[in-house]
Parts: sequence; structure tokens; C-alpha cells
Amino acid sequence: MTHPPKIRLAEVSKSFSVRSPDGAGASWTTAIEGVDLDIRHGEFLTMVGPSGSGKTTILDLLAGLSAPSSGTISVDGEPIHGPGKERGVVFQQYALLPWKTAEENIVFALKATGHRRGEDRRGIARRYLQLVGLDGFEDRYPHELSGGMKQRVAIARSLSYEPDILLMDEPFGALDAQTRELLQSELLTIWKRTGTTIVFITHSVEEAVYLGQRVVVLRAKPGRVTAVVDVADQKPQPGVDLRSTPEFVEARHRVWNLLHDQSPIGATP
Ligand SMILES: Nc1ncnc2c1ncn2[C@@H]1O[C@H](COP(=O)(O)OP(=O)(O)OP(=O)(O)O)[C@@H](O)[C@H]1O
Ligand SMILES: [Mg+2]
Repeated sequence: MTHPPKIRLAEVSKSFSVRSPDGAGASWTTAIEGVDLDIRHGEFLTMVGPSGSGKTTILDLLAGLSAPSSGTISVDGEPIHGPGKERGVVFQQYALLPWKTAEENIVFALKATGHRRGEDRRGIARRYLQLVGLDGFEDRYPHELSGGMKQRVAIARSLSYEPDILLMDEPFGALDAQTRELLQSELLTIWKRTGTTIVFITHSVEEAVYLGQRVVVLRAKPGRVTAVVDVADQKPQPGVDLRSTPEFVEARHRVWNLLHDQSPIGATP
């Protein structure tokens, strides 16, 4: 038996009104056009695309922070009308409260959003900070943390909600290579344990193929889905270093070619 899709985007388009350069009038710019996508229950879906291809726009729509200009987005068969507790978001830029410590930022967010009611929220905050390697930094204020550490607090905060759906916009973009690899494998472990449906945006083809079961490739002007590459079969048994397998190298090539064949528009490969 197959599950109905966890998330469905049906013919979704989003346009923004922008001021003309002389400031005299306004025009419309199409950020994404005709996006059709089914995301399976418990799937780890990654998205790659050039800057301006509408990745953040799609994530904002999935989070319910903005509404499509046309088309519909549904979760578990129900159209969404705004943010929901079942969807947790990690933004491209961390948004921490500067007057609260790392731990307080998480506890505050859990309280404010009504997550984990009746549980030991401090304990939860500490556990997730530990998970992202911030053991011993619980009492630091954001200005006392590096950029990568701040982003890790933001990731710990979203994980601590234990949402049904986790929406992540280039969460590891600002991290050093070593921390990034560590968090990639932590995230895979968490995903396998929890069965969370994850939508993960990245600029890195390598990261997209490493993490995703399917990789959505986008193009810009306007943002459109050009291909969905299934890489689930490329995943080896646990304990095997995925990145060094021929299947991984082949999948990375395939996605890289799809990404680079598309621009500039009209060019022949
Ligand atoms: N609020 C807005 N007002 C006007 N135009 C917008 C707005 N948000 C996005 N856009 C436009 O929509 C297009 C897609 O933007 P988006 O931020 O989704 O791209 P992206 O793929 O996330 O890029 P990046 O990789 O640089 O983060 C761009 O052309 C952008 O200028
Ligand atoms: Mg973006």
C-alpha cells in the first residue's frame, strides 16, 4: 500500500510586486512558476538550484509564511493556510534573540510556539544543543558565539520541536566543512530515527545527493523544477562511506549536469 503524499504542490506559482528602478511604478516578477511536486511521507527531499531559482520562495510557501499566487499546497491532503505546528523551519539566516542565552532561546521558542508542553523544556534544550556539538555553550549569548555556532543553535531549536515536517533552507551553508559533515550525518541519524519528512535546500550538489532520497533540480527566471532525480537506490549499507562509492559519484555527476545544462537560457550544451 502506498501512502498519500505528505506534501503536495499543485501548479504552484508565486509572483512579487517590485518597484521599477525609477521608483515611479511597480511591476511583477515571477519567482516560481507551475511547480508540481509530491513529497512522500517520511521522505528526505533535497533541492538544488542557482541563486534566484525560487528555493527560499518554495520553502516560505511550505512553511505557510506566504501564500501562492496560484495553485495549492496541501499537507496530509489538507490545503494549508498559514504556519502550522507540524512544520518546523530552519531559515537561511539564524534568528536568535540576542538577549537570551543559547538554552533560553530554545526554551523560549518551545514555550512561545506551545511545543513540548508539560515536558522538561530545559532538558530538551540541553539535549539538542549537545546533539549539535554545543555542549558547554548553553549559557552563552548569541554575540558570544561564532556564526556557525549561532546557526547550530537555530538548528537545535527547530529539531527540539520534533516536528512532523522539517523545512531547512541552506542550514549548513555557513559552517566549516568538518562541522558540516558532522551535522549531515547527525541529521541523517535523526531522520532515520524519527521518520520526519525533511525538505532541505542547498547550493551543494554533493550535499543534496548525500542527504536526499530524491533531489529536485531547479532553474531560474522564472523558478521551475527541471528534474527530480531518484538517488535512494544509490545509498549503501550502514557503515560504508557513501561519498567514495561509484554510485554516489555517478549520481553527483547526473545532478551536476542537470544543474549546469540549463543556463544560460537558450545555450546549447
Ligand atoms: N519579497 C520579494 N519581493 C520581490 N521579489 C522577491 C521576493 N522574494 C523573492 N523574490 C524574487 O524571487 C526570485 C526567487 O528568490 P528566492 O529567494 O526564492 O531564490 P533562492 O533560490 O532562494 O536564491 P538563493 O540561492 O540566492 O537563496 C528572485 O528573483 C527574487 O528576487
Ligand atoms: Mg534562498
